[in-house]
Formats: sequence, C-alpha cells, structure tokens
Amino acid sequence: MELREALSYDDVLLAPSYSEVLPSDVDLRTVLVRDIELNLPILSSAMDTVTEDRMAIALALSGGAGVIHRNLSPEIQAQQVSKVKRFLNWIIDNPVTVNIGATLAETRRTMDETGVTGLPVLDAGKVVGIITIRDLRFNENPEMLVDDVMTRDLVVETSIPTEKAALAKFDKHRIEKLPLVDVGGRLTGLITVRDMEKHRDYPSAALDSSGSLIVGAAIGPRDWPARLPGLIASGLDFAVLDTAHGASLNVLKSLEKIRKKFGNLSIVGGNVADGDGARRMIEAGADAVKVGVGPGSICTTRVVTGVGVPQFTAVADAVEVCDAMRVPLIADGGVKYSGDIAKAIGAGASAVMIGNLFAGLKDAPGQEVIFEGRIFKSYRGMGSIGAIESGGIDRYQIGEGEEAVPEGVEGRVPYRGEVAPYLHQLATGVRKAMGYTGCASVEQLREYRRFIKISTTGLRESHVHDVSVIQDAPNYSRL
Ligand code: IMP
Repeated sequence: MELREALSYDDVLLAPSYSEVLPSDVDLRTVLVRDIELNLPILSSAMDTVTEDRMAIALALSGGAGVIHRNLSPEIQAQQVSKVKRFLNWIIDNPVTVNIGATLAETRRTMDETGVTGLPVLDAGKVVGIITIRDLRFNENPEMLVDDVMTRDLVVETSIPTEKAALAKFDKHRIEKLPLVDVGGRLTGLITVRDMEKHRDYPSAALDSSGSLIVGAAIGPRDWPARLPGLIASGLDFAVLDTAHGASLNVLKSLEKIRKKFGNLSIVGGNVADGDGARRMIEAGADAVKVGVGPGSICTTRVVTGVGVPQFTAVADAVEVCDAMRVPLIADGGVKYSGDIAKAIGAGASAVMIGNLFAGLKDAPGQEVIFEGRIFKSYRGMGSIGAIESGGIDRYQIGEGEEAVPEGVEGRVPYRGEVAPYLHQLATGVRKAMGYTGCASVEQLREYRRFIKISTTGLRESHVHDVSVIQDAPNYSRL
C-alpha cells in the first residue's frame, strides 16, 4: 500500500530569517507564463461568480490578472476579453481619421459618433495634419473643409518611442496627440496624452508590450475549437485549460491538439496535484501548470470522491518537476489569508489563483445582498448544481442528460468592497512575509522553501485567541 503524508497551508509556517529587506522595497513581479509578467503574483479564478471583464480590468490595473470564465458563450467571452484589452492603450493601432477633403460637418459627425475629439488628417493615405474639436469650435461654417482649418505643423514619430520620449515630445511641442508614421508617411498608430495619463494613474498595471492590460480566459477540452479563434482575435494573452483532472487522457490529448494548432499561444494547463501530473501537462504542451485538486473553499471533490491532495504538499511536489522543466506553477485554491499566498510562493509557486476572497469584491459578477444586516455576494463552485444548470460545463465530467452529481456548493461570502484596497491588503501581507524571510523578490521567496510544520495547538496559537474581537480587521476574520 502506498500511504503518503500531506500538508495543507494551515499545517505549516514560513520560518523567519535574518533580513535586510524592507517590505516597502520588495519586488512583487513574477513570470506567469512564457514572457507574460505580472506585477502582483495573483490571478482570479475562472468562475462565474468571480471573473468577468470588470474584475479582469480591476485586477490587471493593480498588477495581477483575471481569467474570464467559460460559463459564457464563446462570443461573449471574446467580447469581454476585447473590452479588457481596449481599456488602456499605449499605442492606438487603428486610430479614427478624417480625409482632407471632408467638410467640418462630416468631421463633427465622426467625432460625435466615435467620441474621439482629435483626428489625424489623411491625404491619399498619408498623414498631412491633425484636426481637433477646438478647430471646429472657432470655424462655424459647416461647409468649410478640413483642409482649411487643420493644423499642418505636425509632430510625428517614425518608430515606437519610449514612454519618456513620448512625454518629452508632448511637453516640448505642447501637443496632445502624437501620430506614428512609416517611412512613406502612412499612419501606423497614435499616442495620446489622455492614454498616457491613464497609465500614470495605474503605475503597477499588468501590461502587454503594446500597453494593454493582460487578460486570460478559460477553455475546456471540448469547447476550445469554438472559443480559441475568437479569443485570440480579441487579443487574449493566455488561455487556461480549465479542468478538474488535468492528468487524464482526454485532457492531455486536447492539450496536444491545441498546442499543435496554436503554436504561439501561452497555455496554462491544469489542474494537477503532484509531480507526475505536472510532467504530463508540460510534455503535452503546457507553458505553466496549475495545481489544486480539492482545496477550493466551495469544493466538495475530496468529500464526494475521497480523492485529492492537501494543497501545500501538492504545490511542493509539483514544483520539483516544474522547476526542473523550467515552467511556472500556479497554486489554485485554498487561499484564506494573505499568509497563504506567501506560503504558496515560499513553496515554489510563481502565482496563486483566488476565488473565494475575490467573489465578495465590488467588481465580481452579481449583486450585493443584505442578510441579517450584513452585505454579502454569492459565490458558487463551477461544479455546483447552480453552475452546472446555468452552463452545463464539462469541468466535472457531467455527461449530456445525466443527473448532475456536484463537486461544489453554492454559498455567499462577505462583501469586501473595492478591488484596489483589498489587493493592497493581500499584497502587503506578502511584502511583510518577504521582510520576515529576507526575500527581496518573488523569485527569492520562491526559492526560500524553509518551513515549520505546526500542530493543531500551534494553529490555534497562530489565530486570534482568548479575546473577543471588537473591531473587524480588513485582512482577518474567522468565518
Ligand atoms: P477558493 O479560492 O479556495 O475558493 O478556490 C477557487 C478554486 O476552486 C478555483 O480556482 C477552481 O480551481 C476550484 N473550483 C471552482 N469551482 C469548483 C467546484 O465546483 N468544485 C471544486 N473546485 C472548484
């Protein structure tokens, strides 16, 4: 008989170490998958009570990333990805333009319809000027032509400037729009002061190379052919093969097919719970491996099936293989406090995925409800009866027409307010862990791997004890 011992986050603590690291100075950047970097090692779960476009935007603005769930039609899921991608621009690839021969009336109509108030002017495809709403204000005659009033004195860029160089140009020439042109003078993009200001408002946003927010989306072993073309066309950064048992033949076969068909796509494969599962996922083509069988707060898999691995051990086992094969590991589920994020990374994870703690945030799907004087939001497992009935998804291998045997429950969690201040609590918890352990970067914490196994009395001592809490803390409660 094989009988292994395994531990959960509650069974361990990071051992403290001599430190010269201040929490405020640590670097929380992490490599999520391939060349995608986050500024905060946190993802939100692909669940219909956790991640749609609003959550994905809010999370990416703070440095993490959301994974849009797949209890949505392929079209709507792709639209949501596109909304996230268009929220912040660094370079507008397809700017709205106007022709030099257009009348001012036509120009105003274009501005009204698109909401864009400054347009590059084209003559036979070449940029020859710029016209703004101000030029229209002082020229009342609607029959006049763009040619008569536009600004000809153009400042353009012929290559993609650095942010600093673009800002310097805006300041020097007192302009608000900077067209990018090719050697033939044809428009290739546009940089605006307004977009740059938005970027300055969110200095830690998780961005791709063209300055758009990073976003992921869930796909399944059966629905990927319907989803991936639209998701990729919308600018998806990474796909998450969302299954409850990644180390199974049909999932691995699908992964191989996806890999073959979409060679350049960054794919997170999951879920697995040990080194063998991680190896199989990577060999089938995963660029990152998601770990977790049964740790989720709404999950009943371990009770219904008797199968699973306590999450700390699952991460610790799988990471041996992931490290050897140079692939990042994402620890999915079971995060109850910020300290659990530090423990997951201290055991080797590059990022964590969170459902429960995020379901109560304002930007999670669903309405706030008041129950016995307190505010809640609903949170349910994707294998719960409600989620199965509303989407019939295949994560939990429920066949067509079969009576559902759920592996999750439907519940509610306390309302937790806005995303940014809540993430600040989580991120600062991790920063403090790095201060206590002397780790200046996520990579150093990932390599730390010094833990203490504690007893039930140790856990009792860790939590608030022998006191009645009279003031709720923003980062601690005992449900
Ligand atoms: P939590 O943050 O502990 O609530 O865990 C969230 C994770 O639980 C998700 O990212 C999924 O991997 C997993 N999960 C989601 N729905 C279910 C379910 O119905 N049963 C089991 N696990 C689930």
